[in-house]
Amino acid sequence: MSINSSAPARGLFIVFEGGDGAGKSTQVQRTSQWLQSAGATVLTTREPGGTQISEELRSLVLDHGHGEIDARTEALMYAAARAAHVQQVIIPALDAGTHVICDRFVDSSLAYQGVGRGLGVDAVAAINSFATGGLHPDATILLDISAQDGRSRRIANTGGIEESDRLESEPDDFHERIRMAFKELAAENPQRYLVLDATEDIEQLQSQIVTHLTGLL
Ligand code: TMP
Repeated sequence: MSINSSAPARGLFIVFEGGDGAGKSTQVQRTSQWLQSAGATVLTTREPGGTQISEELRSLVLDHGHGEIDARTEALMYAAARAAHVQQVIIPALDAGTHVICDRFVDSSLAYQGVGRGLGVDAVAAINSFATGGLHPDATILLDISAQDGRSRRIANTGGIEESDRLESEPDDFHERIRMAFKELAAENPQRYLVLDATEDIEQLQSQIVTHLTGLL
């Protein structure tokens, strides 16, 4: 057997999770800048999204005005968007040695559709295992936030106007169940999860993320 010594080392797959309004996009950007300044090649992406079909599915599942979407259909739409994203974007990038930073991944489906919509974590995990071919993040950073704080932040970010997509429009008790689901997922997977209090200062959060990821590089 010959080993190709010129093949790049596989990139790290880093995922940010958390409730709506947790500040994931800010930390995704900062983490990308930090890795790039250290000389790494980085791809930032999001779910649902990242490919043309996945962005179309994002609009269909999140925008109001497409009629009723039942919970199973919703779960399959997220999984379909993810399948395209994994095959077309994430795996090729990781194989090329690029670090991939993704805003949400499978655990969002486990929390929102499995727990929030009541489909059950095992059923949602099964369709996602098919969608991803079993790809798991190397590190998952959970920005933990209460439903109320998340909503206040979203309103502040949109200049005081509440502009909610289909999922954000759900009541606070839905978002509290999502929060608890993420905490449980983190407790079950301590080797890959870093749990942070999203209400901490942006710089403090970033320094904890940098410390955690430095240990994996
Ligand atoms: P975002 O606003 O963080 O980009 O996420 C889009 C919304 O979709 C957010 O409310 C969470 C929800 N979502 C799910 O319900 N299941 C999923 O698998 C993903 C990725 C997101």
